[in-house]
Amino acid sequence: MSTSPHSAAPRFVGRCPELLDALRVARRFARTDAPIVITGPTGTGKELVARHVHAHSRRRRGPFVVVDCPNLPANLVEDELFGHARGAFTGAGAARGGLIEEASGGTLFLDEVGELPLEMQAKLLRFLQEGTVKRIGATERVRVDVRVVVASWRDLGEMVRDGRFREDLYHRLAWGLVELPPLRDRGHDIVLLAKDFLSTSDKLAGCRTGLKRDAVPVLLAHDWPGNVRELQRVMFRAAMLGTGRRVSGADIVRVLERDRPLAPPSIAGGALEERLIRHLEAGEVGARDLAHTLGVSRSHLQRALSTVLADGTVEKLHRGSATRYRLAGTKDSAHCPRWDLALALVANEGRVTRGRLAEALGVSERTASRVLRAMVDDGLLESDGRSGRHAGYLAITSEDEAKDGESPEVQA
Ligand SMILES: Nc1ncnc2c1ncn2[C@@H]1O[C@H](COP(=O)(O)OP(=O)(O)OP(=O)(O)O)[C@@H](O)[C@H]1O
Ligand SMILES: [Mg+2]
Repeated sequence: MSTSPHSAAPRFVGRCPELLDALRVARRFARTDAPIVITGPTGTGKELVARHVHAHSRRRRGPFVVVDCPNLPANLVEDELFGHARGAFTGAGAARGGLIEEASGGTLFLDEVGELPLEMQAKLLRFLQEGTVKRIGATERVRVDVRVVVASWRDLGEMVRDGRFREDLYHRLAWGLVELPPLRDRGHDIVLLAKDFLSTSDKLAGCRTGLKRDAVPVLLAHDWPGNVRELQRVMFRAAMLGTGRRVSGADIVRVLERDRPLAPPSIAGGALEERLIRHLEAGEVGARDLAHTLGVSRSHLQRALSTVLADGTVEKLHRGSATRYRLAGTKDSAHCPRWDLALALVANEGRVTRGRLAEALGVSERTASRVLRAMVDDGLLESDGRSGRHAGYLAITSEDEAKDGESPEVQA
């Protein structure tokens, strides 16, 4: 979490049309107070764009508050964001405003917003709708004047379809959309960035700062799964470890070779497949999430996937327009959060209707109805015989489970 007042506009290096377009859109939306969603793979400059928006907004003299959503401690998320009233809980001696209030008059940047728990997403939605926050334990809501910019490397639309991100929150946030391309798709920008880093980095003060011409094809051939951040690190190491007056192609190749443990399958020989399978043990995942978590490019991931798909360890699923992967033979219910929530409602409340599920998931009744029908098709729920809006769904206890006594008691 960090706050910085009076932010100067950050400097972007690059001329490729996709980057220039993204910055143009960011500046256009910056003048309004509309929320903005910035997407792109890791290290592509999402935070830099958020700072760019702030610096071009009427709020530039106000605070820029960064909230690192994945690293908010689970039990303190609400306190961090919304603050608390005096005596709200043991240890809350004095009242304290949260990060949202801290951003008053400025910009709140929620980094990796997709990692916020669903319950917190609901509270965030209310703040966005009403422009007010309620500290924990307080009775009144406080008005705040805050502009929200969020970033996500995951596709939030896909997360909505999977039930991991509230649909209503998505519609409240996605007014301005800025998408950053991966570095490998930015052509000659890679060379511009490398040269710029060598000549302007404080970290390299007093070191070799030029780039030899033979470095260009090496830079263009690499995949850069870690994008601009990876390029900065590789250039730093090449500048430090090389021997000539300027950084050569051979210097860069040497750094990339030494970094092979981070590198993908064709080089690491099967290790990626093993990591992939271990990762899928935790549940069903989309390709983009997999590539990010495993720290490899999509093309390397595809190569590893084709091996495990061919030998039947992993299977491919088509969920709407999204392609996802899971260990072959895994049951759906264990891996679809929407299904998990529906089953939890049935376990706690005896039955579930589409209205109840829609409310719990923050989706339309039509979507909830589709989820319930799919669960019936898959033999997880059965209809209670009523029709229309009041149609209810009950759990099915399989004969095997009933015999083993493993399934929870369900009262209809
Ligand atoms: N076009 C650019 N010109 C100059 N520097 C850049 C550019 N894009 C990114 N950077 C630099 O690359 C690094 C990574 O950028 P940033 O932290 O904004 O990426 P990110 O997309 O938020 O990454 P992550 O997904 O890992 O949080 C930073 O040091 C940033 O200054
Ligand atoms: Mg970031």
